[in-house]
Order: sequence, then structure tokens, then C-alpha cells
Amino acid sequence: MNDATSAPQPADAPDNEATRHAWARYWQTGALHSCATSFAGNYDGPIGAFWRDVFGALAPADRVLDVASGNGPLAQLLLATRSESAITCDSVDLAPVSPPWLAQLPPARRARVRFFGGTRAEALPFEDGGHALAVSQFGLEYSDLEGSVPELLRVLARPGRFAAVMHHAESRPVALATEEAQHIAWALAPGGGLFACATAMLRPMSRAATEAGRRALATDAAALAARERFNTCQRELTDRAARSPCPDLLFELREAIAVVMETAARHGEAAARTRLAGVEQAVRDDGARLADLRGAALDEAAMQSLLARFGRDAQHHVEPLRHDGHLMGWAVRITLR
Ligand SMILES: C[S@@+](CC[C@H](N)C(=O)[O-])C[C@H]1O[C@@H](n2cnc3c(N)ncnc32)[C@H](O)[C@@H]1O
Repeated sequence: MNDATSAPQPADAPDNEATRHAWARYWQTGALHSCATSFAGNYDGPIGAFWRDVFGALAPADRVLDVASGNGPLAQLLLATRSESAITCDSVDLAPVSPPWLAQLPPARRARVRFFGGTRAEALPFEDGGHALAVSQFGLEYSDLEGSVPELLRVLARPGRFAAVMHHAESRPVALATEEAQHIAWALAPGGGLFACATAMLRPMSRAATEAGRRALATDAAALAARERFNTCQRELTDRAARSPCPDLLFELREAIAVVMETAARHGEAAARTRLAGVEQAVRDDGARLADLRGAALDEAAMQSLLARFGRDAQHHVEPLRHDGHLMGWAVRITLR
């Protein structure tokens, strides 16, 4: 995690293995980047402009390293910004990554980008001094900086550059992640949470498929109590969503649970239980990634400590990056001499 590892981690901070799997499953969906709900295509606005500016300064045959690349939004932006050149990009990520967009490129363009999934920023599989530029979008801060920054310094040429957009502790993505993590904790709460209430409804829903089952349910006190708890939970979800600046996750959950209930009625309890387990796993993955994000965010002191790791000779330019009036992160440019 980041420089602030000595600071308390969020109570829901997951173990590394769960986080790695959560990211792996996320990239397998084919999402281009980690802000899929904020940017429909690639990063645009000030984040896109930052990267176009960074890539614009590359020489025609430079080699770029993308740290914690995910499915490669930066490599895609690089190819779009410098379509004429022979610039190449090595993209590394802890999770296995195999972006669908790359396979659709003509061979010559495809050959300019190589993905190294299952690769830690703390142990880069590259020779010394081979890359002119290292970049990272919401990435390096997820790694152990004590191991990853020396690796960057090793693989970067001199002069060399590092550019990054990094999570800011007071940014909108971090605030929304905190809010969504609370939705998730509510949904997963043992006993009264949405999943517990939905689980208790699976058998009654499957029995409601027949006339005889419905008659039996009408006098089944346990089933009636389960339905009452489930309805209360649904009302809580609606109230939560109305109060929240980011209710999408709750709406998605409501729809997913409705499909589970329909599955119980049509295909029986076992099929519905399997489907509900899939929904719960997806929510746990969301929780793991959000906790990872919050643990990675850098406050002012953590940013200063990160910059110090690049050494006294490094030149820094760091500023808050805003989009539509919201603080989105730190824009970081470092030059190594
Ligand atoms: C928020 S995502 C950003 C991905 C991509 N740069 C983007 O903008 O969409 C953070 C990524 O960091 C990766 N990651 C976490 N720890 C890492 C490490 N130690 N080394 C390499 N990648 C790491 C995760 O697997 C995840 O794909």
C-alpha cells in the first residue's frame, strides 16, 4: 500500500489475495479502466488532457512503462495520441490482464503494446535504464512504494520521466468509495442486511410457484416474518439510495436481487441460491477494490514522502487535478536527471 501504511487502514481493508482476485475478476469483464461509471469511453476532460500532454513530449521511438495498467487505458491513449510513431508501451499489472481492445488492432499497432499480467511493480521484469517514461493512472499508489519506486528508478533512463494521476485523500473518488463501502457493509450485514433477508426468502419464493405452496405459505409464520423483513430491507434500500450521492450500486443490487427472487420462483431454491452467491461475490469484490482505493489514497504528507523517494536530484511538479469542479486526484510529473 502507500506511504501511509503506518496509518490505520479502513476497517474493511481486505487481504492482498482477495484484492488481487477482485481486480482480476474486474478486468475479466473487459472494462477499459477502473472508473467505468464516470467515463464511458477512455479518460477524458483534464485527465485525458494531462496524458495527451505527457505523451506529446515523447521522442518517436521511446519506450514507455505503464505501472498498474489494468486493461490499458493509458496504452490506448498513447496509441491514439502518437499514432504516427514507433513508441512502444510495456503495461504491467498485478492482476492477469488481457484487454479485448488490443486484440482488435491491426498487427503493427498491436505489436506496440505488451501486457505483463501477474507482474508486481515491486519486481519489474525489465533491464536497467530501458524506458524513457513511466506512467501510472491510479496505480503506483496501490503498490508497496518502498519496493516499487526503486524499481522505477532502476528501469528509467536518464534523463527520464515519471508522470501519474494518483488518488488524493480528499478527492471525489475517495469520498464516493467511502460512501459505497457503507452501502456494501449494510448489504452484507449478518442478520439484518439485504443478503441475509434475501437468503431467508429463497425457500418461500420457490414454494410460491404452486397454488398449494401459496396456500401453505399464507399460514406459515416463519415465511411471513421473512417476507416482512425482506420488505423492510427493500424500504431501507430505497431510503439509502434517496440520501446517497452515489446510489447506483444500490439500484443494481435491487435489480440483481429481483432476478434472484424470480429465479427462485421459476427454477427453484437451489438455482436461486447459486445466483445469489454470484451476486454476493461481486459485491464482496467491489468492497475489496474500494477498500484498496481508500488505502492507496495519498494525503499531502504521503505525497511529500513519495516525492522524497525519487531522490534529491529529481524535479517535481505536483498539483491537484479537478474535473467539473471536483477534486479527482494528484497530477504528478517528475523528471530524473
Ligand atoms: C485503480 S486500478 C487502475 C488501473 C488502470 N491504471 C486504470 O486507470 O484503469 C489499480 C490497479 O493496480 C493494480 N495493482 C495493485 N497493486 C499492484 C502492484 N503491487 N503491482 C502492480 N499492480 C498493482 C491492481 O491489480 C489494479 O489493476
